[in-house]
Amino acid sequence: MHHIKNDLLLRTIRGEKTSRKPVWLMRQAGRILPQYRALREQVKDFKTLVETPELATEVTLQPVDELQVDAAIIFSDILVICEAMGLPYEMVEKRGPFFPKTIETQQDIDQLRIADGEHDIAYTIEAIRLTKSALNFRIPLIGFAGCPWTIFAYMIEGGGSKTFSKAKKMLYTEPNLSHQLLQKITTSTINYLQAQVKAGADVLQLFDSWAGILSPQSYQEFSLPYIRQICEAFQQTPITVFAKGAFFALSDIAQIPCHTIGIDWNITPQYARQMVGKHKTLQGNLDPCVLYADTNTVQKATVQMIQDFGNTHHIVNLGHGVYPDTPLDNVRCFVETVQNYILTH
Ligand code: CP3
Repeated sequence: MHHIKNDLLLRTIRGEKTSRKPVWLMRQAGRILPQYRALREQVKDFKTLVETPELATEVTLQPVDELQVDAAIIFSDILVICEAMGLPYEMVEKRGPFFPKTIETQQDIDQLRIADGEHDIAYTIEAIRLTKSALNFRIPLIGFAGCPWTIFAYMIEGGGSKTFSKAKKMLYTEPNLSHQLLQKITTSTINYLQAQVKAGADVLQLFDSWAGILSPQSYQEFSLPYIRQICEAFQQTPITVFAKGAFFALSDIAQIPCHTIGIDWNITPQYARQMVGKHKTLQGNLDPCVLYADTNTVQKATVQMIQDFGNTHHIVNLGHGVYPDTPLDNVRCFVETVQNYILTH
């Protein structure tokens, strides 16, 4: 295996002592950079960016060059798996995802196929190859997928929602159908992530963006077993589970064979550590809205977070994706504050 020059992220995942903490931002590719907006303006369509490997590579590298973050995350979307399984999505300007057809019946589920990542999502796999080559072992590349529950929620609901009550209704009224669909998504996701690793992804992250709308019981039954299945398939590649809003499940997630657990801003670093135990690395968790404040406040909050998490087993990040209208100077201040904070062991 080749040596990655800046391997702070990988060493922190392994629990090693480092001279400073690694930092990257969820949703750093796209959204915040003027370079992204300019490209997006030219291309017009989000999906064209995702589905053109050269362009996806360019967008992936933009924050790496502009912000000097310690990891790249491949530019794609969690929803690509839906299309690969036979359920197309559209990205509606200023509104978000929309599915012309949704999943309702046994027949709908039977008609979905198990995705083969290498072929059915060839554009992102090729983008990973191109990005790896362009990075030339500068920093690690993160591959990702949605967790089965979150993908299920979009497939049933047909788009974003405050409550996802249609998707939750399916869990309560058709548990058997729900498990069939969740299993199909899980198998597809494992195939897709295996193709990502083969193409060069160094670390994987699972996004369970809608974890927080489930009750602890529903989460136990409909999300955790599938996350566990995915993690068990990747014992050679570090994998991060980020279940937004799932403070109630942290001690259960800690029992899953993942290496890193992402946490949002609703819990303190101390509480997260208590729930998770000593061994796993934590990632997070600054409130993205802190980055709307003045630089002094950004600096202070970032330093406080660094100290609260302790000297090892911590990857600095926000508690959720960076918001599109975040002042770039504050993103810079956040990253630089972490990079200037030297740890004494
Ligand atoms: O992290 C990165 O920088 C890599 C790229 C990435 C995107 N989406 C690009 C994107 C990642 C990791 C995602 C994950 C994703 N997509 C999640 C999980 C993370 C989270 O925020 O909870 C979810 C729920 C989605 C689904 C999705 N994609 C929604 C709801 C939307 C519309 C709202 C939004 O985020 O802007 C998208 C579109 C999307 N995905 C954009 C980007 C850059 C914006 C598209 C544009 O340029 O208009």
